[in-house]
Amino acid sequence: MALVTTKEMFKRAYKEHFSVGAFNVDNLETLQAVIEAAAETKSPVIIAITENVIKYFGIAYLRHAIEAAVETYGVEVALHLDHGKSIEICKYCVDNGFTSVMIDASAYDFEENIRITKEVVEYAHAKGVVVESELGAIAGIEEDIDVNDKYGRFTHPDDVVEFVTRTGIDSLAIAIGTAHGAYKFKPGQKPQLRFDILDEIEEKLPGFPLVLHGSSSVPQSRLALVNQYGGQMKEAIGIPESMLTEASHHSVCKINVGTDLRVTFTGEIRKFFFTQPQEYEIRKYTTPARTAVKEMVKEKMEKVFESAGHAAK
Ligand code: 13P
Repeated sequence: MALVTTKEMFKRAYKEHFSVGAFNVDNLETLQAVIEAAAETKSPVIIAITENVIKYFGIAYLRHAIEAAVETYGVEVALHLDHGKSIEICKYCVDNGFTSVMIDASAYDFEENIRITKEVVEYAHAKGVVVESELGAIAGIEEDIDVNDKYGRFTHPDDVVEFVTRTGIDSLAIAIGTAHGAYKFKPGQKPQLRFDILDEIEEKLPGFPLVLHGSSSVPQSRLALVNQYGGQMKEAIGIPESMLTEASHHSVCKINVGTDLRVTFTGEIRKFFFTQPQEYEIRKYTTPARTAVKEMVKEKMEKVFESAGHAAK
């Protein structure tokens, strides 16, 4: 199986009421963990790569690592640029083997967002690559993304049809209360997704795949492991898994998760360093971290996004 776009997986996800996980990977171990989880659960999967990760890996390493993953496991995988902030980075990824790109021009006004998105769509579609864009702003901080609104500026249902029609995008990231990073909500605050807005958007765009960013659930046991072994993470509240499953039963076809991988990987490495300070073999501590990420991702695929068993036959 070769790398695929998200087109067919989203069609299936929409029809069969599941979501495809888009997992942010940061290094080879997290990439391997996600790909193995997809292979073991027979899930379609999206590998989400930020511009900083491209810089960290190097584009050639990244391209060949993904090819190796597909060759080794025969998984149905899309390679996706997450939060492309410029037309240039989107074009660069289209030219370098990505099958899907996100242009995030949501910080601009509506007309400028449309203009920028449209230019990316024209370039990408000519080369068989699909495009995601964002309307509204998803709160939180992730890498260079810093949106100050605490609860996000929700996507206005009245804008979606015009935005999708004029840009020609393939999927739409919406703001309904999720947020990037570990600290999505104030301590004690109850996470709330605006399913009423989702319903309205869905009604206006029947059959159209929607995307949820900022969807880590921040498992408390994983957070506790970080802090048990010398970490100093603050109280962190994620998006409840039941809400993500509910969104998957709606038109949400793609759910983004990055923080959960980072917290899981970090916790295992901290534990190893703390409990085995005499060790210096790199593989001895990357192996349990990779395994823990794989198990966590598998659980999401099986129990939360319900994508297990839905890979292309
Ligand atoms: P989290 O920070 O909730 O993992 O979200 C990741 C994301 O949306 C990447 O675009």
